[in-house]
Amino acid sequence: MTKRIFSGIKPTGHLTLGNYLGALRRWVDVDQHQSDALFSVVDLHALTVDHDPGRVRRLSRQAATLMLAAGLDPELCTVFVQSHVAEHTRLSYLLECTATDGELRRMIQYKEKGARARAAGESVRLSLLTYPVLMAADILAYGTDEVPVGEDQTQHVELSRDLAVRFNQRYGHTFTVPKATHPSVAARVMDLQDPLSKMGKSHASTAGIVYLLDDTDMVRKKIMRAVTDSGREVEYDRERSPGVANLLEILAACCQGNPEALAGGYESYGALKRDTAEAVVELLRPVQERHAGLAADGGYVDGVLKRGAERARAMARPRVDAAYAAMGLLPGV
Ligand code: TYM
Repeated sequence: MTKRIFSGIKPTGHLTLGNYLGALRRWVDVDQHQSDALFSVVDLHALTVDHDPGRVRRLSRQAATLMLAAGLDPELCTVFVQSHVAEHTRLSYLLECTATDGELRRMIQYKEKGARARAAGESVRLSLLTYPVLMAADILAYGTDEVPVGEDQTQHVELSRDLAVRFNQRYGHTFTVPKATHPSVAARVMDLQDPLSKMGKSHASTAGIVYLLDDTDMVRKKIMRAVTDSGREVEYDRERSPGVANLLEILAACCQGNPEALAGGYESYGALKRDTAEAVVELLRPVQERHAGLAADGGYVDGVLKRGAERARAMARPRVDAAYAAMGLLPGV
C-alpha cells in the first residue's frame, strides 16, 4: 500500500528559509513523488496567538502560493487549507477527550510561548495549550504514516503517536501510528543573529531571518552580517561554534553537501558567508520567480485549494466517522 504523508505550515508569518530547508523542499523533492501526500496551510493554528484577521488571510494565500511555487504539484499531491476541511476540528474534540491536561502542559512550545506572553502581561489563549491536539487530529484524520517536519515538531508528533495508540487501545483500532521524519541536514536552521535560537517566522527581530520572498540584496546582507564566533577556524561544531555550524548546514543543504566536509574547504568566515549567501540566492531565485507568476493568477491558486479541500475531505471523513462511532456516539441519520 502507498504510504500516506501529511504535513503543514501555519500562516503566522512570512515563510522562512527554515521552513524551506526543514520541510517544504523535501515535500517537493521526495515526499510528493513517493507517496500519497497531503500538504496543508494549517490556518486554524494561526489563531492560537494574538492575530490580525486580514493578515492571517493574506499570509494563508501567500503560504499556499509559495508551496506551489516551491514545486508542489497538485497532480501529484493534495494541497489545501485546514479550515476548509471540518474533519480536523471534528476529530480534535475526540482527541481532547483522549489527551490529558498534564501531557499538554509539558509541551515545550506551550511552555516557551506561554511564558513569553505572560512576561509581556498578555493572556494566553486556551487554544495555545490544546494546539498539539489539533495537530494530532490533522495527522491522524488521514491515516498518516509519515510526517516530514523540522526538528522543532518532534515532540508534537510524539504526542500524536501517543494519542493514536491510546485511542486504539481504548476503542479499537482506528488510527495509524505516525512517525516524524527529518531532513539529514538543516533540520533546525538557527537565527543568523542568535544562533542558539531557531529561525522562526515571528522572532522579535527580523535581521537573522531569511524570508523566502526577501530580495537578493536583503538575503546577501542578512547572511553577510550573520553572527559568527570569536574563533577563527572554520569548524563544524554546533556546541562550540553554533553560528558557523549554522552557515555550514545551510550551505550543505543548498548544495546537497556535508557540513563537516565543507568546513575543511574554508579558511575564513568571510568566504563561507559569501558562498552561503550566493547558494541561498540561487536556491530561492526560481521559487521567487514562480511565486511572482502564481501570485498574479489568484484564480489558479484558489482552484487548486478548492479541489484539494474536496479530496482531503473525502479522505478524512470515513476515518473521523469511524472514530465517532468507536467512542460511543450515535451515528447521525
Ligand atoms: P511551522 O509553521 O512553524 O513550520 C512549518 C515547518 O517548517 C519547519 N521549520 C523548520 N525547520 C528547520 N529549521 C527551522 N528553523 C524551522 N522552522 C520551521 C517546521 O518544523 C515545520 O515542519 N505545528 C506546525 C504546523 C502543523 C503541522 C501539523 C505540521 C500543524 N499541524 C501537522 C505537520 C503535521 C508548525 O507550527 O509548523
